[in-house]
Amino acid sequence: MRRPLVAGNWKMHGTRASVAELIKGLRQLAMPAGVEVAVFPPCLYIGQVVEGLAGKSILVGAQNCAVEPLQGALTGEVAASQLQDAGCSLVLVGHSERRILLGESDDWVARKFAAAQSCGLTPVLCVGETREQRESGKTLEVVGRQLDSVIESLGVGVFAQAVVAYEPVWAIGTGLTASPEQAQQVHAAIRAQLAAENADVARGVRILYGGSVKAASAAELFGMPDIDGGLVGGASLNADEFGAICRAAGS
Ligand code: 13P
Repeated sequence: MRRPLVAGNWKMHGTRASVAELIKGLRQLAMPAGVEVAVFPPCLYIGQVVEGLAGKSILVGAQNCAVEPLQGALTGEVAASQLQDAGCSLVLVGHSERRILLGESDDWVARKFAAAQSCGLTPVLCVGETREQRESGKTLEVVGRQLDSVIESLGVGVFAQAVVAYEPVWAIGTGLTASPEQAQQVHAAIRAQLAAENADVARGVRILYGGSVKAASAAELFGMPDIDGGLVGGASLNADEFGAICRAAGS
């Protein structure tokens, strides 16, 4: 049995004051049994969130880490070891906003994945196709390649301690959600690709769906056999909405 995970990616949102408000809201949520919940604040506020959520069973993650696992001369970057020291237990790698807007390559994503694991952090590998790629029938090829680049450089075994998030680029921040069937098809393909190398790893790995997940759409998505929770952007900035999404993963 895979334990569902609902993760809130706050992206580049928040101020000290709004983060304090959100922490207050999250502290008031009743956590659904059997669901793992995590939030990914901007790096600057990780300390505030770790302290603010102390004693509450919500994990804290980072949205990115450096390709080098340990601290050193790399201006502006944050090492996985520092994230671990700050209280993080997960880190997103390869979010499409970083791949597309910042030119992050598959190779860099794999290095960040390895850096995270070497410091005891669980990487959440984000994959997904653009609208053009979907419309030209390339979805499974694109997602397969993104997954393969990590398998090729690190081996399939690394997915025993990792999470995959399928986030179609066309569904991110657009209000367009993949239908449960569309998402399930890609999730099943991801699991099959891992199973071709190692059936146990494939059975155990959690594959989250991300892209305009809202409380209203969550239950149906999470009801699909290969969807093990969600990576939630905009809706995770509202504690009540996020709480409802977490509950949907428990039902
Ligand atoms: P939205 O939920 O705002 O579409 O963002 C999804 C996402 O990119 C989470 O990482």
